[in-house]
Amino acid sequence: MVAAGGREQLVVLANRLPVERVGGASPWRSTTGGLVTLLQPVARETRALWVGYAGTSISSTLDRNGLRLHVVGLPDVDFPGYYEGYANSTIWPLYHDNVSPPAFRADWWEAYVRVNERFAGTATALAGPGARIWVNDYHLQLVPDLLRGRRPDLRIGFFLHIPVPEPEVFRRLPQREQILHGICGADLVGVQCASSARAFLRLARRVLDLDVDDGGILVGGRRVRVAPFPASVEVARIEATANRVDVRARAAKIREALGRPESVILAVERLDHTKGIVQRLQAYQWLLSQGRLRPPRTVMIQVLPPSRQTIRGYRVLRRTVGAYINAINRQFGPGAVRYWDRVFSLDELVPLYLAADVMAVTPLRDGMNLVAKEYVAAHVDGHGALVLSEFAGAAEELHEAYLVNPFDVEALGGALWRAVGADPWERSARMRAMRTTVCGSSVLRWGRDFLAALAAASRTDGVVPALEPAPPASDALASSRPAPR
Ligand code: G6P
Repeated sequence: MVAAGGREQLVVLANRLPVERVGGASPWRSTTGGLVTLLQPVARETRALWVGYAGTSISSTLDRNGLRLHVVGLPDVDFPGYYEGYANSTIWPLYHDNVSPPAFRADWWEAYVRVNERFAGTATALAGPGARIWVNDYHLQLVPDLLRGRRPDLRIGFFLHIPVPEPEVFRRLPQREQILHGICGADLVGVQCASSARAFLRLARRVLDLDVDDGGILVGGRRVRVAPFPASVEVARIEATANRVDVRARAAKIREALGRPESVILAVERLDHTKGIVQRLQAYQWLLSQGRLRPPRTVMIQVLPPSRQTIRGYRVLRRTVGAYINAINRQFGPGAVRYWDRVFSLDELVPLYLAADVMAVTPLRDGMNLVAKEYVAAHVDGHGALVLSEFAGAAEELHEAYLVNPFDVEALGGALWRAVGADPWERSARMRAMRTTVCGSSVLRWGRDFLAALAAASRTDGVVPALEPAPPASDALASSRPAPR
């Protein structure tokens, strides 16, 4: 056992830090993305030490914008196999129900193991006695068990931000047992939604043959609690931004610049295979070709910052999406789809949300999708309509959205069409109901709930509560899909 070396009482581990090293006169640049947006306010409030990678092989610590950061230096030789390979070309597509074919390579796995060991080693050196360690996401699934082996005094939470696959899909992974044992080193496993929690219990039972009840797993005399903690957004900040006079004026200007269309459909996402971008463009094209929507009376805005461009499949996707948009604009007029391929700040997004009559969030699979919640939070006046994929975690909470199967291009077109044409009373009733859900939570509450559950899960240390009998198959093995409405 490694002795407690450091003094930190709360350490957050995530592959990505809110900064990356770019060198030069201003060596640190801010990063963006769902995970960073979510963890930032929580790490700031709790004064946690956030440990992650920042694009360099040199370790360091820094304070930035009220955040305490520790950079884990990773050897250049390991990063591609670990991040581009195992994390994003094996685990990412597999956990998203094989939306693109996962690739399996032994050398990627070896790099993944080495990087996980490095993260675990860093955390054990920094953590004080009895500290809480919050491990985030699919890049670091081996870390909980590595920590437990080295430092049994630690309280270990693991949160998976992406979907948990069904056993039939997960069993293809050559390292399926190692990955599950890695996660089960935690005292608490958090996931985005109830269906993912149930799926994780099924994995433990079917792949590792462990005893489970409907909220936990018995692992070597310990109980690992498994529970959903639906991620949220900065509701108060978004509402305050949406109420600003300049932001409302900006929203009006956006519509003016678009030629005062009757309807604006908006899509905002990272360029990724999971997001269903091509299917949505096809659905829009189908509506245009039928003459049900006509530019310039209707305009689609697509905000699509590129991501993971070091991976070939992502570069190909970027070209494919560009080609689709060009084809639509050639056929139906140059403004049918407005395409912005850069990151937008929240201050830029809120006016766009307000300018959009319909927001289309139609991923093929998504752990949660916070853009959907941001759109709802921004509509303080109760206007706007959300078309939402059944396969996004958010669909388990936002029942009043126009829910749709994004694989069915005609159904998707139909949902967009209904949302555009719905009468204002219906749209507003749906929006108000969704606002009750979204505004009843917040990102800080999400963080507090997880940390409180970690403290409670840890208190049972050494005492193994009796497992309740396994629930009947129909209940425990219920489909992980939200019921279509
Ligand atoms: C999305 C996922 C997160 C994940 C992140 C990684 O935001 O929802 O679960 O951690 O991507 O993104 P990155 O840019 O670091 O590859």
